[in-house]
Amino acid sequence: MDAVRIYGGKSLFGQTRIQGSKNASLPILAATLLTDGICEIENCPDIADVYHMLRLLRSLGCQVNREEGVIRVDTTRLSECDMPADSVGVMRSSIMLLGALLARTGEVSMEYPGGCVIGKRPIDLHLYALRRMGVVIEEDEAGFCAATAGLTGAVQELPFVSVGVTENLILAAVLAKGKTVIHPAAREPEIQALCEFLICAGGKIEGVGTDRLVIEGVKRLHPVRFRVPADRIVAGTYLAACLCAGGRIFLRDAPCAHMESVIACAERFGVRTERETNGLLVEGRADRKLPDGLVTAVYPGFPTDLQSLFMVVMACSGQDGWIEEKVFENRFRIVPELIKMGACIQVAGTRAYIHGGNPLHNTIVEAQELRGGAALVVAALAAEGTGIVTNRHYIDRGYEDITLSLRELGAAIELA
Ligand code: EPZ
Repeated sequence: MDAVRIYGGKSLFGQTRIQGSKNASLPILAATLLTDGICEIENCPDIADVYHMLRLLRSLGCQVNREEGVIRVDTTRLSECDMPADSVGVMRSSIMLLGALLARTGEVSMEYPGGCVIGKRPIDLHLYALRRMGVVIEEDEAGFCAATAGLTGAVQELPFVSVGVTENLILAAVLAKGKTVIHPAAREPEIQALCEFLICAGGKIEGVGTDRLVIEGVKRLHPVRFRVPADRIVAGTYLAACLCAGGRIFLRDAPCAHMESVIACAERFGVRTERETNGLLVEGRADRKLPDGLVTAVYPGFPTDLQSLFMVVMACSGQDGWIEEKVFENRFRIVPELIKMGACIQVAGTRAYIHGGNPLHNTIVEAQELRGGAALVVAALAAEGTGIVTNRHYIDRGYEDITLSLRELGAAIELA
């Protein structure tokens, strides 16, 4: 069955290795299109979204293989600029290929990438900003054709921070003619990793890690070997699991420097953490109230991708609390499922109010998207009785093997 079974009520003791970052791997794999030769990318996670990205690269004529955790992408001969609709539609990150392909081949046609339950996920700002770099884009109801006689740098003063738009503009600008300024640029660690990859390959990018990126176009980028950083959201997921179930866990390779806001929040919930050179130690169980709630924001604020996980922490903490989602318009989809487990939660606009004190009990609940699905698994760890989370395929999009990792941390969990 496409589900996991959890025997709840057990504290966690153990350690697990944190996988490479999904959201760093995807733009870096797209960026290999900008080099002419064989790039070797280490530590890419073995997850469905990476599989779809590799399939898209192959459909464009790249030679791709994975051996012992290293993905080799040979972009010497690109043959196509149409991508298979089923891979484009199922994975939103296909939009990241737009900037890279325009830079490499000057032409792209693709269906609109998938939206999902957390929001409409429009690409209007992507298209607006690329048009300002010399791209002609014709849209119809199914998708669009984009073409350019040559990308030219531009000053891009954006109306709001967008991770994907920042990534697409970096990929379009790094080989463009002239200078591009992106402001406000997203500052996520995944953007920083993409910039580091491109600088290694010969790109000229200043302001990495700030909200103002200045990119001087160069003539060519050479292939590189690069290691993807660990996934801060996966690490935050297992941190939340300890906050809910209690215990003492060690997250090997956890990127602590990318998790400041999350670690600080965990400590406000009353657990002890220790940053080690090779990971993060977490001990205790959340039992305190966050008086001033929790608000998601762009990096370095609290990440929207952990909002569902920390809603579950609040529901398990026995305390009242509230959480506000300010990035996506529909990211409270797990509320009805948590209510089935006995949680008392009210949603009002962009805020969810969680009334503690109701111990959760396990039942059958349904994952509806990636991070919400992981949050339901974490809730089941702390709840009494045996629970089932269905639609595991959503979770497999971003977690290499959540069942194995949680079992390594001492959870009683199995595929169902
Ligand atoms: C990236 O999505 C991540 N995905 C998301 O992670 C993450 O939640 C999000 O950034 C925010 O951090 C990947 O990196 C593959 P945005 P992205 O553009 O780039 C609106 C996960 O769980 N917007 O920063 O799509 C948009 O609707 C995923 O790993 C427009 O209106 O996010 C949203 O409300 C989920 N028009 C806001 O901007 C546009 O053209 C921020 O989205 C583009 C975006």
